[in-house]
Amino acid sequence: MKDIYQRKIDYLRLSLTDRCQLRCHYCMPDEGVEWTPLDQLLSFAEIKSIVQTFAELGVSKLKLTGGEPLLRPNIVTLISELKAIKGIEEVTLTTNGVQLAEMIDELVEAGLDGVNISLDTLDENRYTLLTRRNKLDAVLTGLERAIKSKIKQVKINCVLAEEINKDEILAIAQLAKNSRVHVRFIEYMPIGAPKPLTPISEEYVRQLLSQHYGPVKPYDIKLGNGPARYDEIAGFQGKIGFISAVSHHFCDTCNRVRITSDGFLKTCLYFNKGVDIKSAIKAGNLQECILEALQQKPKQHRFSSNDEYGSREKKSMVQIGG
Ligand code: 5AD
Ligand code: SF4
Repeated sequence: MKDIYQRKIDYLRLSLTDRCQLRCHYCMPDEGVEWTPLDQLLSFAEIKSIVQTFAELGVSKLKLTGGEPLLRPNIVTLISELKAIKGIEEVTLTTNGVQLAEMIDELVEAGLDGVNISLDTLDENRYTLLTRRNKLDAVLTGLERAIKSKIKQVKINCVLAEEINKDEILAIAQLAKNSRVHVRFIEYMPIGAPKPLTPISEEYVRQLLSQHYGPVKPYDIKLGNGPARYDEIAGFQGKIGFISAVSHHFCDTCNRVRITSDGFLKTCLYFNKGVDIKSAIKAGNLQECILEALQQKPKQHRFSSNDEYGSREKKSMVQIGG
C-alpha cells in the first residue's frame, strides 16, 4: 500500500504493552505514566487480525515493541503465530534486554528474526541513574546470549546525548568490532516532553570513529527496516548505524506505521493523530479504516520547527513504542 506521497508502507511497529521494568529518563517523565489497564491492551486475537490485515495490504516486516515487549505473557506463542501469517517475512523485537538471556532460545525457536537491544552506557552507575534500575548485568548477559544464539540479527540501540554517554562512544562502537552486532547511534528525540537532552551529531561520531579506527565508509546494503544509515569500518564484524530523526530526517522515505498497545494506529511519531483500531475491528471495517488513516499520513515531522503545533504528540515514548 502507498500513501498520498507515494511512499510504500511495508513496515508495522506494534506495541505489546506499555509496561517496562526500567524507567529511562528520555522515555518517560519523572512522575511516571499511567499504565493502560490490562483489559484495554489489544488481545492476541485482535493483534493477529491486525497483522493479517496489514499483511494483505502489503506489510511484510513487523517489529514488536513496548514498553518492554518481553513482559507480555505468552509472547513466544504470539511470535510463532504472527510468523505464520502469509506475507509476513520478518518479525523482530526491540527489547531492553533485561529478560533476554532466559528467553532468547525460545524466541528464536518461535521464528524471531532479530533483536534490537537498548544499551546506552556500559557503566553500571550511569546505567542505574539513566534507567532508574540496576539491571546492566542482566542486559549484558542477554546481549552475550543473543550473540551466541541462532538469531539472524543482533543490534544495539544507543541513544546518544551529551548528558549521558559522550565519553563512551568508542567503547560502545567497539562492541561491533568484537562481535556480530550492529551498533546504532540514535539521536535523542524530544517526544512526550521529558527533560530535554543535548544531541550529539552523527558527523561528530563518524569523525571520532575514523580518528580511532580508520576510514568510516558508507555501507549500502540494507540491514533493517528503514531509517538507519549504516557505515562500515575495516576490521569490524558489525556495522555502525545512525538514526538521526531530527537533524537528518528520513520522512521522504518513511515506510512505517505504528500501533500502540491499546490499539491506536499512528501514522507519524510526532503527531497525536490516528485511529482507534479496536473499534474498527468490532465494526468489521479494519481494512477501510487503515487505508483511510494512511491517507492522513503527514509528509514529515515538525521536530525542527519552533511552533507549538496543536496536534503534537503528548504521550511519552514508552506509551507509543518508539
Ligand atoms: N529519543 C530517541 N530514542 C528513544 N528511545 C526511547 N525514547 C527515545 C527518545 N526520546 C529508543 C530507545 C529504544 C527504542 C525503542 O527507542 O532507546 O531503543
Ligand atoms: Fe523501558 Fe525502553 Fe523506555 Fe527504557 S527506553 S523505559 S527500556 S521502554
